[in-house]
Amino acid sequence: MFSEIPTSVLDRMSELELRDAKDRADGTPRLERLRQVPPETGRFIALWAAAAPKGSIIEVGTSAGYSTLWLALACRATGRTLTTFEILPEKARLARETFEKAEVLDVVQFVESDYFLHDVEIDQVGFCFLDAEKEVYEACYEAIVPKLVPGGILIADNAISHVEDLSKMIDRALADSRVDAMIVPIGTGELVCRKR
Ligand SMILES: C[S@@+](CC[C@H](N)C(=O)[O-])C[C@H]1O[C@@H](n2cnc3c(N)ncnc32)[C@H](O)[C@@H]1O
Repeated sequence: MFSEIPTSVLDRMSELELRDAKDRADGTPRLERLRQVPPETGRFIALWAAAAPKGSIIEVGTSAGYSTLWLALACRATGRTLTTFEILPEKARLARETFEKAEVLDVVQFVESDYFLHDVEIDQVGFCFLDAEKEVYEACYEAIVPKLVPGGILIADNAISHVEDLSKMIDRALADSRVDAMIVPIGTGELVCRKR
């Protein structure tokens, strides 16, 4: 999966890594920044997605599609597809550019919309990466956990960097009898939940 990343994917990943670093350095306003995961988190979620049980693979919060590219590698390696949701038109434009340039449209279904407008269509989730605005994490958690298949995985980003903002969801997950959960200190901190 990682030893044979296509050049089209590597090139777009590099472009987005440069832009994300520039955004963070030059004080670009928060909503305009890509705010994407670091490469080690990309690898981490790809490994989990590749190992996830049968069921849909979804992502809430595409931004420009950097994390999606890592998940696309997992889908290529396992013969699966994924669906990713982005609410902001400017981020959606960048994401479409990413998926075309990286040539991953065979495995990525991109939905330019609020995830919650599609929640009723989603069922039997094998893997979900949650990386949206912190205000919607709790609602996403409550929407997605019931849809996870047994053994299904939910990973939520920023569980250490935004531990106070996310404390309600994190406390809920760590005490939730439907899942086994822990926080992994990689990148900005990943809350990993596995459905019992
Ligand atoms: C931190 S960024 C995602 C970064 C991306 N996962 C990556 O690593 O490349 C969060 C994104 O979630 C989007 N978002 C927030 N709420 C959303 C919702 N309800 N549905 C879909 N996208 C949402 C935001 O517009 C923003 O682009």
